[in-house]
Amino acid sequence: MLFDNHQRPLNYVRLAVTDRCNLRCFYCMPEEGIRYVAKKELLTFEEIERLVRLLASMGISKVRVTGGEPFVRNDLMKLLRTLTDIPGIEQVHLTTNGVLTAPHVPELKALGIRSVNLSLDTLDKTRFREITRRDEFDRVWRTFESLLEHDIPVKINAVVMDGKNTDDILPLAALTRELPVSVRFIEEMPFNGEGQHYPVLHWTHARILAALKQGYPTLERRPDPPHATAMHYQVPGHLGDIGIIAAFSRTFCGTCNRIRVTAQGELKTCLYDNGVLSLRDLLRMGKTDDELKTSLLESFSQRPRDGFEAESRRTDPAIAESMATIGG
Ligand code: 5AD
Ligand code: SF4
Repeated sequence: MLFDNHQRPLNYVRLAVTDRCNLRCFYCMPEEGIRYVAKKELLTFEEIERLVRLLASMGISKVRVTGGEPFVRNDLMKLLRTLTDIPGIEQVHLTTNGVLTAPHVPELKALGIRSVNLSLDTLDKTRFREITRRDEFDRVWRTFESLLEHDIPVKINAVVMDGKNTDDILPLAALTRELPVSVRFIEEMPFNGEGQHYPVLHWTHARILAALKQGYPTLERRPDPPHATAMHYQVPGHLGDIGIIAAFSRTFCGTCNRIRVTAQGELKTCLYDNGVLSLRDLLRMGKTDDELKTSLLESFSQRPRDGFEAESRRTDPAIAESMATIGG
């Protein structure tokens, strides 16, 4: 088992495979003027494979493939085939916006992808277009239906935005009545690619919970799985469940078991740090596995206690990055 300097086990890596996206969710990216990373700056599939094999040998057993939108990377399925075959990697999960995903669902099932997180902030087509600046609701919905048909566990991720989609909280929660889906409401974080900071967060986890309780007074707290970032709830009698993720309030850092690798191969040991090690540079300098391992362990031994400490240690204090480069 791998541990960090706060005795937290590390067993989970989130891999961003591209910083590009076919949507423009306003809480994640500006509409125009995004400077995408040149292709040669991205980790190649071979580099990703080497890294994941090494991490697996050190104790990482769970991988989430994310982005940007993973399916805009050429031949993503090839990478998923490789990752699901790596000894020691017991679970591969995927986060997607669902625009290009539906045709691949049968193969995701065949590969044993454990679950898919689908980003969907509203059930209203017009509002979807306003939030994502693209008219793609129908394709996303087809992906959702196909995931259910193929019995792949699906979580809907909805970022709660003041004045934008708070009317969607109850309709999204209502999906859990008859569908075995987990609907998770996420506090908005300041990672919108524009460095915009909100003086206050209007929709905190407490306020989201209060809104849910107004619609569903019988809502009950459920035990959280170990290392969960969501606080779990369920309406008694509903098939699915509800989660609230205090992504901005950062209530879950004490049990954080995850690391991130950005599309450019930067290691992040916290969502709120701005990269602690360039794995890509080490890989391209021809470092051996042992040398890479030493550098990784050194970073794991200096992990900030929580997202606030990570933020205060940033070499670039302005949070100008987008969730798409961080790996959602
Ligand atoms: N705040 C909170 N969540 C965000 N995501 C993207 N940007 C933000 C943000 N600024 C979430 C999306 C998506 C996942 C990849 O990250 O909901 O599901
Ligand atoms: Fe794309 Fe996800 Fe960012 Fe939306 S939140 S722009 S779907 S990467």
